[in-house]
Amino acid sequence: MHDFTGRVAVITGGASGIGKALGERAVAEGMKVVLADVEEAPLALAAAEIGAGGAPVLPVVTDVTSTAQVESLAERAFAEYGQVNLLCNNAGVFCAGSAWECSDDDWRWVFDVNVFGVANCLRAFIPRMIASSQQGYVINTSSMAGLTSMPFVAAYHASKHAVVAMSECLHHELSFKGADIRVSVLCPEAVTTNINSASRNRPASRADIGVDGGERQVVADAMDQAMVGATSAAAIAERSFEAARAERFYVLPGDDPWVYLAHRRMADLRDRENPAFVSPDQVPTDPSARARVQSV
Ligand SMILES: NC(=O)c1ccc[n+]([C@@H]2O[C@H](COP(=O)([O-])OP(=O)(O)OC[C@H]3O[C@@H](n4cnc5c(N)ncnc54)[C@H](O)[C@@H]3O)[C@@H](O)[C@H]2O)c1
Repeated sequence: MHDFTGRVAVITGGASGIGKALGERAVAEGMKVVLADVEEAPLALAAAEIGAGGAPVLPVVTDVTSTAQVESLAERAFAEYGQVNLLCNNAGVFCAGSAWECSDDDWRWVFDVNVFGVANCLRAFIPRMIASSQQGYVINTSSMAGLTSMPFVAAYHASKHAVVAMSECLHHELSFKGADIRVSVLCPEAVTTNINSASRNRPASRADIGVDGGERQVVADAMDQAMVGATSAAAIAERSFEAARAERFYVLPGDDPWVYLAHRRMADLRDRENPAFVSPDQVPTDPSARARVQSV
C-alpha cells in the first residue's frame, strides 16, 4: 500500500505503547483512525491526544477476546467510514512462568488475547474488507518471541509463534483468493511500553492464582531492565508503515541480538541440533561471528 492518505486504520490495543504509536503514525499519514482497546479511560485519553490536531479518531471500547465486541467494532468502523484499509491486530498481553507452573488460566488468558483476539478480528474484518473491493493491509503484531524460544515464558512465546504462523497462512490464503489485501507480521525487539504491567487487563474470570517457582519475578526484573534504552514505540510504528509501504511481510529489527537469536534457532533446526540457550546479552558482539550464524 503506497499511499495511506484518506484511508482508514483500525488498531487494537490502541490505548498504549505500540498501538498508540501506530495511531499517531496513521494520523501523520493522513488516515482516519478507529482506536480499539479494552481499557476505557486510557483509550479516551489516547484518542483525544492522537486526534488533537483535528484528525478523525474514533475510540471504540473493545475486548478482542469477545467475538461479539469485535463484530460490533467492525460494524462500527464500516458504518462510520465505509471502508477499512489497514487492520492492525496489535492488542497483546504477557505472562511469565514455567510451562508446567503456568495455570490453565495463565495459558488461556494469553491465548485468548494474543491468538483468539487476532482470529476474532480476522473473522470480523477480512470478509468486509474483501467485499469492499478496496485495497487493504493487515499488520499482525507478533514479537521476536514469535521467532525464538526463551525459558519461563512458554505461553507468551507459543502465542507469538502462533501469530507468525497465522500471518503466514493468511498471506497465502489472501494471495490464493486474489484479494487485494497484503499482510505483514510485526516482530519487535524490546520496546518501551506498558507490557510489563499487562496483568492490569487480566479479567477476574482468568485470575492469577500465583503458582510460580519464582521465575515470574526474575523475568519481570529482566524485562524492566530491557526496557531501559529499549526501542521506542514510535520507531516501531515508523518501521511498520515503511514495511506496509514496501509490502514487506516480515517486519524485523535491524542489527539486534534478537535477530541473531532467531537465526541461531534456525541454524539449530537446519543442523538437527538440540536448541541452544543463548540469552540476548550473550550474543557475540563480533560482527563476523554473528554473520556466520545469520547467513542461515
Ligand atoms: N513492548 C515490547 O517489548 C513488545 C515486544 C514485542 C511485541 N510486543 C507486542 O506489542 C503489542 C502491544 O503491546 P505493548 O508492548 O504496546 O504493550 P502495552 O501494554 O503498552 O499495550 C497493549 C495494549 O493492549 C490492550 N489490551 C490488552 N488486552 C486487551 C484485550 N483483551 N482487548 C483489547 N485490548 C487489550 C491494553 O489495554 C494496552 O492498551 C502486544 O501484542 C505485545 O505482545 C511488545
